[in-house]
Amino acid sequence: MKAAVRYAYGPPESIQVAEIPTPEPKPDEVRVRVMATNVNRTDIGVLTGKPYLMRAFAGFPNPKVPVTGTDFAGVVDKVGEGVTGFSVGERVWGFADNGCGTHGEFVCFSTQKAILPIPEGVDFATIVACAEAAHYAINFLNKVTLKPGDQVLVNGGTGAIGSAAIQLLKSRDIQVTAVCHEIHVEKVRALGADRVIALEKEDFTQEKIEYDFVFDAVGKSRFSLCKPILKPGGIYISSELGPNWENLTLALTTPFFGDRKVIFPIPSNLLGSMKTIQDLLLQGKFKPLIDRTYTLDQTREAFIYVASGQKIGNVILDLSER
Ligand SMILES: NC(=O)c1ccc[n+]([C@@H]2O[C@H](COP(=O)([O-])OP(=O)(O)OC[C@H]3O[C@@H](n4cnc5c(N)ncnc54)[C@H](OP(=O)(O)O)[C@@H]3O)[C@@H](O)[C@H]2O)c1
Repeated sequence: MKAAVRYAYGPPESIQVAEIPTPEPKPDEVRVRVMATNVNRTDIGVLTGKPYLMRAFAGFPNPKVPVTGTDFAGVVDKVGEGVTGFSVGERVWGFADNGCGTHGEFVCFSTQKAILPIPEGVDFATIVACAEAAHYAINFLNKVTLKPGDQVLVNGGTGAIGSAAIQLLKSRDIQVTAVCHEIHVEKVRALGADRVIALEKEDFTQEKIEYDFVFDAVGKSRFSLCKPILKPGGIYISSELGPNWENLTLALTTPFFGDRKVIFPIPSNLLGSMKTIQDLLLQGKFKPLIDRTYTLDQTREAFIYVASGQKIGNVILDLSER
């Protein structure tokens, strides 16, 4: 089969699209003919092995799985011994955030992991774009107790996590202010944000409004800058560790000092996130933002684009035409 491979941690340029043996499903695994997969920021972490902590999950000293990719949507093509609940020809999607080799024509995936049937009428690209970023957005938002009408600021409304977070918050009737570059204001408003701040025009940290929760979905701000716009009892979460991993230290110290705190969530329960987002998709309350679509042969280019930090929502590899 054809797949995007690399045998050591490195930059996108280390990826090659090559012929490798088609994997055989082990007991409890299904083999899936991949139709669509994302190239996401988690893939960049698994590719580069940075932050170094990533290697504890993706393999040390080299990646455990040579084929890149963390999520897939496709069709079951073969089932391993003892598989129940999945059959050949069934449409499925799945996600494993430590890298499971989905950037290839076929992937073998354990039925004990995060895998679900694709609901009727949902296409492969749409469902796979519901995997990675939505999972992180759900995990970050679940750490904060919010009620309808509460004020939340999402920094980075165009990112995959930020665009998912806006929609998740609006599905719970939260008042959302989102921050993005001026060129994307209308796009972010269309996601449901009540107010959109163009970052070239206004510094959101200087506003007179106070928020219950500031979610820095792109990790470009800091708690010290956002503290003045947090209400007493307000929460700051960043998707990034921050300079000198300060968000980790602040998560340990701020609960004991002052009345505004930092939380640094460790995401978990992939299957739970997939079920939550699939339900919202079917209810019409969530629609993943899709930016560009590449072919498998263009995997390297897709990684270079995603690593630029400029993607708008999700980047898809379309493998439906062979
Ligand atoms: N903690 C975790 O478990 C975890 C897991 C996954 C990802 N992450 C991290 O989460 C972050 C977001 O991931 P993602 O997939 O959502 O990223 P992404 O889709 O690559 O987000 C990039 C977006 O951010 C916008 N942006 C860049 N600079 C900005 C700024 N100063 N203010 C506001 N928006 C800005 C860009 O817009 P323009 O194109 O207009 O510049 C672009 O649309 C990444 O840093 C990633 O490494 C963390």
